[in-house]
Amino acid sequence: MPNLRPYAPKDWPQFLALELETQLDSLGDSTEQERATLRERFPALLDVKMGFSRNGFRRPGAELWVLEGDAGEYLGHLWLSMRDDARHGTPTLQVTTMGIVRDGRGKNYGRLLMQKAEQAAKEKGIEVIALEVAGNNRRARDMFKDLGYETIRRTMHKRLRNP
Ligand SMILES: CC(C)(COP(=O)(O)OP(=O)(O)OC[C@H]1O[C@@H](n2cnc3c(N)ncnc32)[C@H](O)[C@@H]1OP(=O)(O)O)[C@@H](O)C(=O)NCCC(=O)NCCS
Repeated sequence: MPNLRPYAPKDWPQFLALELETQLDSLGDSTEQERATLRERFPALLDVKMGFSRNGFRRPGAELWVLEGDAGEYLGHLWLSMRDDARHGTPTLQVTTMGIVRDGRGKNYGRLLMQKAEQAAKEKGIEVIALEVAGNNRRARDMFKDLGYETIRRTMHKRLRNP
């Protein structure tokens, strides 16, 4: 049975690889240049915007959980952030990101991570969990919908090079 434990610096390569893959997939119809730029800037983006680097978080208010297999292998992660977000009118637990490594998908591990998010929210007395998901990420959207998440906002963009 896989188990959840807090992030440790040794997880950095696997965390970064899975997260970068998720971000690249969300770019959809993008050029190789755009993808290369994201690849190159991603660690700095995490550092400056999210206060997260190899050694963990620089500020309180966030948790990163790692799903580990029986042999200690990295199966996925769940990043939770506590927010007092006026848009929800109540303190909110944000699933900043989550993911399961490619080989581990389809085994209910994604659902397991989201159970952990619900458990964490209950323990903190938080009644709302919020997350953002890329419009092209059908698999994740199906999972969240099935778990009872509703779409409350859509972010849209248009690439002007493809009118
Ligand atoms: C989205 C993701 C976390 C799902 O994890 P998973 O462990 O494969 O999911 P589970 O096995 O728990 O399945 C949950 C649901 O996902 C969907 N799903 C699972 N396997 C699928 C497949 N092969 N094809 C389509 N949908 C599938 C189904 O809705 C499934 O529900 P079901 O169990 O009733 O069939 C995983 O695909 C992933 O890590 N993707 C890349 C990262 C990502 O997209 N993160 C979300 C960004 S916020």
